[in-house]
Amino acid sequence: MTIRLGDIAPNFTAPTTEGQIDFHEWKKGKWAVLFSHPRDFTPVCTTELGYTAKLAKEFEKRNVKVAALSVDSVEDHKKWSQDIEDTQGHRPNFPLIGDKEKTVANLYDMIHPNANDTLTVRSLFVIDPNNKVRLTITYPASTGRNFDEILRVIDSLQLTDQHKVATPVNWKHGEDVIIVPALSNDDAKKLFPNGWDEKKPYLRVVKQPGK
Ligand code: BEZ
Repeated sequence: MTIRLGDIAPNFTAPTTEGQIDFHEWKKGKWAVLFSHPRDFTPVCTTELGYTAKLAKEFEKRNVKVAALSVDSVEDHKKWSQDIEDTQGHRPNFPLIGDKEKTVANLYDMIHPNANDTLTVRSLFVIDPNNKVRLTITYPASTGRNFDEILRVIDSLQLTDQHKVATPVNWKHGEDVIIVPALSNDDAKKLFPNGWDEKKPYLRVVKQPGK
C-alpha cells in the first residue's frame, strides 16, 4: 500500500521494547516519527538510533513521539540497545518495534523488493496529532538519514499549520518566512501589520511570526 501525504497513517498493534503498543493510542494527541531501518547490529543503523536518542529533548519540546522498526525481534532490539549505548553514548529512549512477521513493514510499504526483498529500507513518516501523514522520506540502506533535517521539517510543519506562511529553502527556526501566495495583500496587512519585503508580488518575505 502506498502511503501519501495527507493519508491517515494506518493503525497497528505491535510488540516493542516498551511493551505492546496500539499505534494510534500510543501517539494520541501528539506528533509521531515512525521510521524503519534495515537490520539490528548494523553500523549505519547503530549511528541513526543513537543520534535519535540524543535528540530526545528536541522531540519532546515539539510534542513528538518516536518509534523505530525493523524486521528483527524485540529481544534482538534489546540486546542491540546496549551496543548503541556503548558506541554512541545514548541508549534508545523510544520504542523499537519488533516486526519479524513484517506486518507493519508491509502496512507502511517499507520493503522495496527491487532494493532488497526481505529487509526494510530507511523509510520515515512524520504523522500529526490527527494521524495524518505529513512527511515521507525513503533512503537506501547505505545512507544514514539526517535527523536534524527531520526536526527542521517538523518546525516548518508546526509553524505553517498555525500561520499563513511557508518556509523557504534551507530555512531554520527563527529565520524569515514567506507569506503564502493565496493571501491577498489586503488580508496580509491584517496578519502582518509590520509589513513585509516584497521581492516580487508572489515573493513576500516576512519575519517569522512570534519572533
Ligand atoms: C547499516 O546499517 O550499516 C546497513 C544495513 C544494511 C545494509 C547496509 C548498511
